[in-house]
Amino acid sequence: MLHRHGRSNPSRSSPGRTVAGDGVVGQTPGSISVDFPARLMRKPDRTRKTGGQEVPMEPDLAERITESLPWLDAAADRMQEAFEPVVGQSAPRALRDALYGVWLGHPLHPAVIPVPVGCWTATAVFDLIGEERAADLTLNLGLAGAVVSAVTGAAQWQDYASQKDIKRIGALHAILNTGATVLYAGSAIARRNGSRTAGMALSTLGLGVNLASAWLGGELAYEMGAGVDHTAFQSAPEEWTDVAAEADLMEGQPVRVEVGDMPVMLVRGGGGITAIGATCSHMGGPLDEGEIAEGCVTCPWHGSVFRLEDGGVVHGPATSPQPRFEVRTLGGRVSVKPYHPEPLSLPDPAAVAEAAGRVISTGDQGAGQASG
Ligand code: FES
Repeated sequence: MLHRHGRSNPSRSSPGRTVAGDGVVGQTPGSISVDFPARLMRKPDRTRKTGGQEVPMEPDLAERITESLPWLDAAADRMQEAFEPVVGQSAPRALRDALYGVWLGHPLHPAVIPVPVGCWTATAVFDLIGEERAADLTLNLGLAGAVVSAVTGAAQWQDYASQKDIKRIGALHAILNTGATVLYAGSAIARRNGSRTAGMALSTLGLGVNLASAWLGGELAYEMGAGVDHTAFQSAPEEWTDVAAEADLMEGQPVRVEVGDMPVMLVRGGGGITAIGATCSHMGGPLDEGEIAEGCVTCPWHGSVFRLEDGGVVHGPATSPQPRFEVRTLGGRVSVKPYHPEPLSLPDPAAVAEAAGRVISTGDQGAGQASG
């Protein structure tokens, strides 16, 4: 099926759009609202098969927490408002891209959270075996890591204003992490003032709060899909698939086609035709409704920018590239197939081991001759 989105499409947005509550993209002057699909607003009710029948499953603990703490909505609103100048749409783009992890190819937040969690767990172990200096050092390293984790987490969470579950659990996650950090800061002060027992009590409490918060972080990522590449479970046939008539593609006007189960966006421009996944890797926004300019497409939901040529991320919040397709035109028809880069030519471990063995045995012989 082929869908064209012309320049006057009413769901297009202007740059600088922000996300507001109620499942609607907030409007900046000149922009038009976009409804989020229901599937992105809440997890679908989960069911399991019993005796050949689908029966609803009990909500899990995180869902029950979400439902029982409605006050978190107001707290989350205030937090997102406070974070806006640092990690929101009005913050410098280079800073936001760095915090999202665009340079890393996946979200930065999960890569830095092992620092506070790991360091503070080590603090508990060092306290237990009486290694005071090591305990104090890991506690302070954990405090530094907690600051970086907080900023990167806030950047990632900021765009989830329209998803109630993620917004509430994310707010609770942030509140608990702040509590844990305050407890550890208190512990550091107590230790410095010679109150080691009080310091250890505070850090033990902090570790409990931190681990509870880490569990919520796992729920956010693995149960609710926060930070997950939204194209990860899409697939397209490996062979060439006929998708459109060449004459239907107008310069700079994206066209959405289905390739197997995967929506793909075709764009004619710069003397050629490009094809990348049409579902934004960030949260599933419709890229075929985005702005096309300078060889890139801007997602209409949160402003991620992708190169049309190869689907690479130019600006976040997306950190994963769009699936890329090869394009061929034959007899006025356009066909696409998934692009796969050449595999990296890494050294064969067996060959490396053999070469290392030869070096060692040559060295041994040389040493033997020298001593003889
Ligand atoms: S869905 Fe968020 S930037 Fe595309």
